[in-house]
Amino acid sequence: MAEEFYRIKRLPPYVFAEVNRLKAEARTAGVDIIDFGMGNPDMDTPSHIVEKLVETVRKPRTHRYSASKGIPGLRRAQVGYYERRFGVKLNEETEVIATLGSKEGLANLAMAITAPGDVMLVPNPSYPIHPYGFMIAGGTLRHIQTLYNGSFDPEEYMRSLERAVVHSVPKPTAIVVSFPSNPTAQLCDLDFYRELVAFAKKHHIWLLSDLAYAEMYYDGNPPPSLLQVDGAKEISVEFTSLSKTFSMPGWRMGFAVGNERLIGALARIKSYLDYGAFTPIQVAAASALNGPTDCIEEIRQTYKSRRDVLIEAMSRAGWDIPAPPATMFAWAPVPERFHNLGSMGFSKILLKEAGVAVAPGIGFGEYGEGYVRIGLVENEQRIRQAARGVKKVLDNADAILSAFDPEEGL
Ligand SMILES: Cc1ncc(COP(=O)(O)O)c(C=O)c1O
Repeated sequence: MAEEFYRIKRLPPYVFAEVNRLKAEARTAGVDIIDFGMGNPDMDTPSHIVEKLVETVRKPRTHRYSASKGIPGLRRAQVGYYERRFGVKLNEETEVIATLGSKEGLANLAMAITAPGDVMLVPNPSYPIHPYGFMIAGGTLRHIQTLYNGSFDPEEYMRSLERAVVHSVPKPTAIVVSFPSNPTAQLCDLDFYRELVAFAKKHHIWLLSDLAYAEMYYDGNPPPSLLQVDGAKEISVEFTSLSKTFSMPGWRMGFAVGNERLIGALARIKSYLDYGAFTPIQVAAASALNGPTDCIEEIRQTYKSRRDVLIEAMSRAGWDIPAPPATMFAWAPVPERFHNLGSMGFSKILLKEAGVAVAPGIGFGEYGEGYVRIGLVENEQRIRQAARGVKKVLDNADAILSAFDPEEGL
């Protein structure tokens, strides 16, 4: 028997496992950990959506297998959302599919379109399913650095894509983009998408856009959709999610929309794998999309005010972090004094000395080194408490550094 299964061998050990283990140990020892490490929304799903689920679940006919590509009312609701929000028209039969969260959609689309050895251009640092969806599917990755000197530079990005096309054999099959980005919280504009679409058309490459943070923006600058570019639909699909927009992460509801051939391929794979989300979840998701938008604004305002408290309190503690314009994350440079330890070492110190958990940037890819990701998933009081802990760490950097053993637990 093989020592390790083929696909499992292609998946590196989970980089966050070590921080998670230390977090669990600390909690077992009774330490109160302020946990900014995960991207798990902590706010309640708006009550009208929950009520719709409860009302629907009482109807026994909703207990049967559902529709793999999403019930018609749900697909229609997504068509309405794209039209209202982006001015993009979609055909509900051929250009929209519901997914079990955008993560499942991305992973199964990768499975649908990847032949062994196909080259995929993925962002780095990135949300893990962007590279590993293709890795699991047998593809070959080429990583495109998303940040230069800490911020997104569209020109550098396009140059990296040009180089990738010249130097990849076989030629790349698809490009993944994700703006607003997890973990870096960067935005792009429509001009960048225009350039990207022209480039991808010229080189006959598919474009896959992950727009999971479509509604999580804070400076009055709503992120565009790739599909707003004329002709983008000929080569692109885009993923969205209800997880953050309506604080519904556990419900597992997302969408892919766009190119008919790609949506058809995903629908075909999914028709073999699942029967769709539980019908009451689909009905409630449709009512979320068709319903009032003040709940989205409320969720947005909560994240925004946490963001403002975080940036202000950390700055007073001596840690300057750029204010993220979007997403539910701050992408924070490891403070100078701790540079040598890298993002993993600094994360361990924050956990041990301040009871604060963050995600080390290296966990999102090699170009994530030098940063940590702070999730805005604790309330303002806890954020202020965390900043006091950080201040203690920064004020005592010398003593902490001389006592630090990177191999040691807590
Ligand atoms: C960029 C990005 N895409 C997709 C997802 C997954 O979202 P979903 O809950 O829709 O699967 C996340 C979750 O953190 C994310 O950050």
